[in-house]
Amino acid sequence: MVIRYGIIVISDKGSEGERKDGCKEVIEQSLKGEVFAPSYYTIVPDETEDIQKAIKHCSDTLGIELVLTSGGTGFSKRDITPEATLPLLEKLTPGISEAIRYMSLQITPKAMLSRAVSGIRKETLIINLPGSPKAVEESVDYIKEPIIHGIEIMKGTASECARK
Ligand code: MTE
Repeated sequence: MVIRYGIIVISDKGSEGERKDGCKEVIEQSLKGEVFAPSYYTIVPDETEDIQKAIKHCSDTLGIELVLTSGGTGFSKRDITPEATLPLLEKLTPGISEAIRYMSLQITPKAMLSRAVSGIRKETLIINLPGSPKAVEESVDYIKEPIIHGIEIMKGTASECARK
Protein backbone atom coordinates (compact mmCIF):
# COMPACT_ATOMS: atom_id res chain seq x y z
CA MET A 1 0.00 0.00 0.00
CA VAL A 2 1.08 3.58 -0.69
CA ILE A 3 0.68 6.00 2.20
CA ARG A 4 0.20 9.57 0.97
CA TYR A 5 1.34 12.13 3.50
CA GLY A 6 1.03 15.85 4.05
CA ILE A 7 3.40 18.10 5.96
CA ILE A 8 2.02 21.14 7.77
CA VAL A 9 4.74 23.33 9.23
CA ILE A 10 3.35 25.66 11.88
CA SER A 11 5.55 28.69 12.38
CA ASP A 12 4.92 32.44 12.46
CA LYS A 13 8.45 33.17 11.25
CA GLY A 14 8.42 30.43 8.60
CA SER A 15 5.08 31.58 7.16
CA GLU A 16 6.42 35.13 6.84
CA GLY A 17 9.52 33.85 5.07
CA GLU A 18 11.77 34.98 7.94
CA ARG A 19 13.02 31.49 8.75
CA LYS A 20 13.89 28.70 6.36
CA ASP A 21 11.96 25.52 7.05
CA GLY A 22 14.18 22.49 7.49
CA CYS A 23 11.47 20.04 8.49
CA LYS A 24 10.11 19.22 5.04
CA GLU A 25 13.50 18.00 3.93
CA VAL A 26 14.14 15.78 6.97
CA ILE A 27 10.67 14.24 6.79
CA GLU A 28 10.98 13.50 3.07
CA GLN A 29 14.42 12.03 3.66
CA SER A 30 13.20 9.83 6.50
CA LEU A 31 10.12 8.62 4.59
CA LYS A 32 11.95 8.05 1.30
CA GLY A 33 11.10 4.72 -0.33
CA GLU A 34 8.19 2.88 -1.83
CA VAL A 35 5.63 3.13 0.97
CA PHE A 36 5.31 6.85 1.72
CA ALA A 37 4.45 9.40 -0.98
CA PRO A 38 4.72 13.17 -0.34
CA SER A 39 1.36 14.65 -1.30
CA TYR A 40 0.94 18.05 0.35
CA TYR A 41 3.06 20.71 2.00
CA THR A 42 2.25 24.06 3.54
CA ILE A 43 3.58 26.51 6.12
CA VAL A 44 1.00 28.32 8.24
CA PRO A 45 1.29 30.80 11.13
CA ASP A 46 0.48 29.77 14.71
CA GLU A 47 -3.22 30.55 14.24
CA THR A 48 -6.01 28.07 15.06
CA GLU A 49 -7.98 28.82 11.91
CA ASP A 50 -5.00 28.34 9.55
CA ILE A 51 -3.91 25.12 11.24
CA GLN A 52 -7.43 23.65 11.19
CA LYS A 53 -8.00 24.67 7.58
CA ALA A 54 -4.80 22.89 6.50
CA ILE A 55 -5.59 19.72 8.48
CA LYS A 56 -9.17 19.61 7.13
CA HIS A 57 -7.91 20.13 3.58
CA CYS A 58 -5.64 17.07 3.93
CA SER A 59 -8.26 14.90 5.59
CA ASP A 60 -11.62 16.00 4.20
CA THR A 61 -10.65 17.20 0.71
CA LEU A 62 -7.52 15.27 -0.28
CA GLY A 63 -8.29 12.19 1.84
CA ILE A 64 -4.61 11.46 2.38
CA GLU A 65 -3.62 8.82 4.92
CA LEU A 66 -1.12 10.71 7.07
CA VAL A 67 -0.61 14.30 8.21
CA LEU A 68 2.51 15.35 10.08
CA THR A 69 2.41 18.78 11.69
CA SER A 70 5.60 20.34 12.95
CA GLY A 71 5.93 23.06 15.57
CA GLY A 72 3.80 24.92 18.07
CA THR A 73 3.72 22.14 20.66
CA GLY A 74 5.72 23.88 23.39
CA PHE A 75 4.93 26.36 26.14
CA SER A 76 5.13 29.73 24.40
CA LYS A 77 2.03 31.92 24.25
CA ARG A 78 1.77 31.36 20.48
CA ASP A 79 2.08 27.53 20.75
CA ILE A 80 -1.45 26.28 20.06
CA THR A 81 -0.99 23.33 17.71
CA PRO A 82 -2.37 20.67 20.13
CA GLU A 83 -5.41 22.85 20.96
CA ALA A 84 -6.08 23.43 17.25
CA THR A 85 -5.67 19.73 16.42
CA LEU A 86 -7.70 18.12 19.23
CA PRO A 87 -11.21 19.28 18.23
CA LEU A 88 -10.66 17.82 14.74
CA LEU A 89 -9.79 14.32 15.98
CA GLU A 90 -12.51 11.68 16.02
CA LYS A 91 -10.28 9.11 17.75
CA LEU A 92 -7.21 9.76 19.87
CA THR A 93 -4.00 7.76 19.37
CA PRO A 94 -2.17 8.69 22.58
CA GLY A 95 0.25 5.77 22.24
CA ILE A 96 1.94 7.44 19.27
CA SER A 97 2.52 10.73 21.10
CA GLU A 98 3.60 8.90 24.26
CA ALA A 99 6.05 6.81 22.23
CA ILE A 100 7.57 9.92 20.65
CA ARG A 101 8.03 11.50 24.09
CA TYR A 102 9.37 8.26 25.56
CA MET A 103 11.95 7.91 22.78
CA SER A 104 12.83 11.61 22.88
CA LEU A 105 13.36 11.58 26.67
CA GLN A 106 16.31 9.24 26.09
CA ILE A 107 17.83 12.07 24.02
CA THR A 108 16.83 15.15 26.05
CA PRO A 109 14.77 15.71 29.22
CA LYS A 110 13.32 18.76 27.45
CA ALA A 111 11.24 16.32 25.40
CA MET A 112 8.75 16.42 28.29
CA LEU A 113 7.93 19.97 27.20
CA SER A 114 6.27 18.87 23.96
CA ARG A 115 2.46 18.87 24.40
CA ALA A 116 1.95 17.11 21.04
CA VAL A 117 -1.23 15.07 20.38
CA SER A 118 -2.27 12.63 17.65
CA GLY A 119 -5.37 10.89 16.38
CA ILE A 120 -7.62 9.90 13.51
CA ARG A 121 -10.01 12.05 11.50
CA LYS A 122 -12.00 10.14 8.87
CA GLU A 123 -9.26 7.99 7.24
CA THR A 124 -6.36 10.28 8.07
CA LEU A 125 -3.87 9.80 10.89
CA ILE A 126 -2.75 13.20 12.21
CA ILE A 127 0.41 13.47 14.30
CA ASN A 128 1.86 16.60 15.95
CA LEU A 129 5.65 16.77 16.02
CA PRO A 130 7.90 19.36 17.68
CA GLY A 131 9.33 22.20 15.60
CA SER A 132 13.06 21.57 15.34
CA PRO A 133 14.29 19.54 12.35
CA LYS A 134 16.40 17.45 14.75
CA ALA A 135 13.36 16.51 16.86
CA VAL A 136 11.30 15.86 13.72
CA GLU A 137 13.94 13.54 12.28
CA GLU A 138 14.28 11.60 15.55
CA SER A 139 10.51 11.26 15.91
CA VAL A 140 9.70 10.23 12.34
CA ASP A 141 12.49 7.64 12.25
CA TYR A 142 11.02 6.09 15.39
CA ILE A 143 7.33 5.94 14.40
CA LYS A 144 7.47 5.23 10.66
CA GLU A 145 7.41 1.42 10.85
CA PRO A 146 4.59 0.91 13.39
CA ILE A 147 2.33 3.56 11.84
CA ILE A 148 2.33 1.67 8.53
CA HIS A 149 0.51 -1.16 10.30
CA GLY A 150 -1.81 1.28 12.07
CA ILE A 151 -2.73 2.99 8.81
CA GLU A 152 -3.39 -0.38 7.13
CA ILE A 153 -5.83 -1.23 9.92
CA MET A 154 -7.39 2.25 9.77
CA LYS A 155 -7.96 1.82 6.02
CA GLY A 156 -9.23 -1.74 6.44
CA THR A 157 -6.47 -3.27 4.31
CA ALA A 158 -5.08 -5.27 7.28
CA SER A 159 -7.70 -6.69 9.58
CA GLU A 160 -5.70 -8.05 12.46
CA CYS A 161 -2.25 -7.92 13.98
CA ALA A 162 0.04 -10.74 12.89
CA ARG A 163 0.56 -13.02 15.87
CA LYS A 164 2.78 -16.02 16.15
N1 MTE B 1 12.10 15.82 20.90
C1 MTE B 1 13.21 15.32 20.35
N2 MTE B 1 13.20 14.08 19.88
N3 MTE B 1 14.37 16.04 20.25
C2 MTE B 1 14.43 17.33 20.73
O1 MTE B 1 15.50 17.97 20.59
N4 MTE B 1 13.18 19.19 21.83
C3 MTE B 1 12.14 19.51 22.82
C4 MTE B 1 10.80 18.83 22.62
N5 MTE B 1 10.93 17.56 21.93
C5 MTE B 1 13.25 17.90 21.34
C6 MTE B 1 12.07 17.09 21.39
C7 MTE B 1 11.95 20.93 23.14
S1 MTE B 1 13.37 21.79 23.57
C8 MTE B 1 10.71 21.55 23.16
S2 MTE B 1 10.52 23.12 23.76
C9 MTE B 1 9.48 20.82 22.73
O2 MTE B 1 9.85 19.66 21.97
C10 MTE B 1 8.45 21.64 21.97
O3 MTE B 1 8.92 22.09 20.72
P1 MTE B 1 8.04 23.02 19.75
O4 MTE B 1 7.53 24.19 20.54
O5 MTE B 1 9.00 23.43 18.67
O6 MTE B 1 6.91 22.23 19.18
